[in-house]
Amino acid sequence: MIKDYMRKDLMDFKPYHAPLMAYDIKLDANENPYEHSPYVLKKMKLWLEEKDHLTRYPDTDVHELRQKLGAYHGVSENEIICTVGSDQLIELIIKVFVEPGDGVLVPNPSFSMYGLSTLLNHGKVINYELNDAFDYDYDLILEAYEKHKPKLIFICTPNNPTGNKASIEGMKKVLDYVDCPVIIDEAYEEFDGDSMVSYIPDYYNLIVLKTFSKAYGIAGLRIGYGIACREMIEVVNIAKPPYNLSAFSQAVATFILEDLDYYKVLIDNIKNEKEKLFQFFLSRDCFESVYPSKANFILVKIKNTDLMDHLQSHRVLIRGYGVTGRLAYHMRVTIGTEDENRRLMALINAYET
Ligand SMILES: Cc1ncc(COP(=O)(O)O)c(C=O)c1O
Repeated sequence: MIKDYMRKDLMDFKPYHAPLMAYDIKLDANENPYEHSPYVLKKMKLWLEEKDHLTRYPDTDVHELRQKLGAYHGVSENEIICTVGSDQLIELIIKVFVEPGDGVLVPNPSFSMYGLSTLLNHGKVINYELNDAFDYDYDLILEAYEKHKPKLIFICTPNNPTGNKASIEGMKKVLDYVDCPVIIDEAYEEFDGDSMVSYIPDYYNLIVLKTFSKAYGIAGLRIGYGIACREMIEVVNIAKPPYNLSAFSQAVATFILEDLDYYKVLIDNIKNEKEKLFQFFLSRDCFESVYPSKANFILVKIKNTDLMDHLQSHRVLIRGYGVTGRLAYHMRVTIGTEDENRRLMALINAYET
């Protein structure tokens, strides 16, 4: 039996699995639903016409993109690492810092990959709870730090799936107190966050995670990056596989950075649509709670899981969280295009009548 050879601690491991289901409206993965800019589409086509772009290995050091990102964020190229989605960066950070049995402080509820990557890399997940409104309690983080002496601390802001932000003062309080690396995951910061990037010169132990999958609409090309002091980037680079980021991904990310004004308009559209959906959800009886969100999704608590079934039967994909645990009866709705949101609202109205 091949399972006899497998790591015993992974026998009951449940991997992250988000199968692609048939859909008409996809509101389950916090993607940007809009078309890319004419400039970016044109540059992509031209790029594909150059033979060597596909036949040769990509630039393993991702120079051009890191230079452009450095100019955008006001940091040096040496303070940036690019990865296959920020998922890969989470994995690399854990790989280089966590030894078997080391603790990793992870918010709950939050993005599940922090815990899964920790377990896969022999670490120990130590959850710290967000409060009843899903806000961060920084004293609780410091208490857990004192008690468990973790190797890493994760903070996600705006947090997935709750949509609330951590405060700059709160994050600084943690960074001022602890010695271990603190990972601030800003996957949704472009929608309405407060970035910690400007504090990188102040904290040798701060690493900020970013992604092109959410605001910039290229989840399919898998581009994430981290910003931190040079020493931190050198350490994380130890675990980076060669040629990790495809040449096409690198190129498209640079094209997007050359046309950011276009994407800022899309982000504003998403924020306006979010406000409309938020008011609509508040006005409907089928929701027990509707949480304000700084990201491109809204978390709601539903009274009956029939609503999920109703939406699914109409080929609308929404992220549900089951009927047990802290997020029992909650669902997370990604903000779609104006048309998609209108159709979603019509389906919810039909469900209520
Ligand atoms: C908070 C957070 N961080 C990181 C990621 C990973 O994003 P990607 O690997 O596409 O960059 C996600 C994806 O949903 C997320 O919600």
